[in-house]
Amino acid sequence: MLPHILFATVLLSAGAVRAQNRPVPSANPDPTDTNNLRLPFKVDTADTARGIQVGYNQCNSTTQGQDSRCQTLIVNSLEDFCIWGPQTLMEVGNAEAGVVAYCTKPTHGARLIPAGALTGVQFIKTPSYIAVTGRLHQEMINIIKGDAGGELDSGGQDLRGNPIGGVTYSNNLPSSPGTMTQSPVWHYFIGGDVFCMKLCDAKAPNAMGLCEHIYDTYGCGVNVPAAYKDGVFESCLGDDQLPVKPGVTDIPASSSCTPAQSASLYNALPTVSTPGATTTPRSSGTTTPRGTTPTRSPTGSGASSSPTSTDGTGSARGITMRMEGVVALITVAAGLLGAAIVA
Ligand SMILES: *[C@@H]1O[C@H](CO)[C@@H](O)[C@H](O)[C@H]1NC(C)=O
Repeated sequence: MLPHILFATVLLSAGAVRAQNRPVPSANPDPTDTNNLRLPFKVDTADTARGIQVGYNQCNSTTQGQDSRCQTLIVNSLEDFCIWGPQTLMEVGNAEAGVVAYCTKPTHGARLIPAGALTGVQFIKTPSYIAVTGRLHQEMINIIKGDAGGELDSGGQDLRGNPIGGVTYSNNLPSSPGTMTQSPVWHYFIGGDVFCMKLCDAKAPNAMGLCEHIYDTYGCGVNVPAAYKDGVFESCLGDDQLPVKPGVTDIPASSSCTPAQSASLYNALPTVSTPGATTTPRSSGTTTPRGTTPTRSPTGSGASSSPTSTDGTGSARGITMRMEGVVALITVAAGLLGAAIVA
């Protein structure tokens, strides 16, 4: 026995010495948490009229995959970002509380954006925010083809956000490059095969004005004016846009644009044989946000108080966009929204 005990003691003390070189336990990250964010399982634990958070924020290697319900959205660069999409095929207006992250990299504990879904992407970093705009085949991330979509943001109707519990992080925000930092004020629009999002830097003087939540019916052209070029993938530096305001669609100046080829950019993405039927999540039962009955506007935050133009069914079939003084009724045809934006 004695030799064993001695041997064990030697091992223990050797281990203890080595342990001193490691981070203290509280700073020792979950090795499976690829984002190293140390978030709670769900950041929103409320249960109000809009229900509970249907996904989670602890996104790690065990949650990675096409049935992930990760609601922590990472936006680092042109190569490495996530977008929000429904868990199952539906219109944005019916999915907004329960959308999940779809990413370009398999390192965020989330779903992957299927290969070929993104057809043009521009990443821009300005003094106050980072923005990603682009074109996509939206049915490949579970948005019904032709849906004109709506807005998701950090506020929502009740300050719980859309999705409920959705949080955004980046290691590339203007005031904290290299450090994963939350952007507590962000907005995101998707529909008509176009998407746009802006993560405002909390330290920026006019974060709220640049990441407004009230112009949900005005779409990408007003909220995130940019080029929206199909077939172009580039990363740029840029000036801040003007504060979001209906009628203001000036594209801010950009510079130092670095082009890339999509094939080399997004090479970790799964191929999908049947667009529109991309995923049938195994984790059913929690996939449908409450309120799929057509009572809500499709457009998320501020929808109850701002002008919306739906077809009366609550679906996202008609959103009035006012751009440059022209009112354009956007209907179901895919691509019309995008066409209006660049017009
Ligand atoms: C990984 O994420 C899941 C889902 O959020 C969570 O239940 C699990 O505890 C996490 N794993 C670790 C080691 O923290």
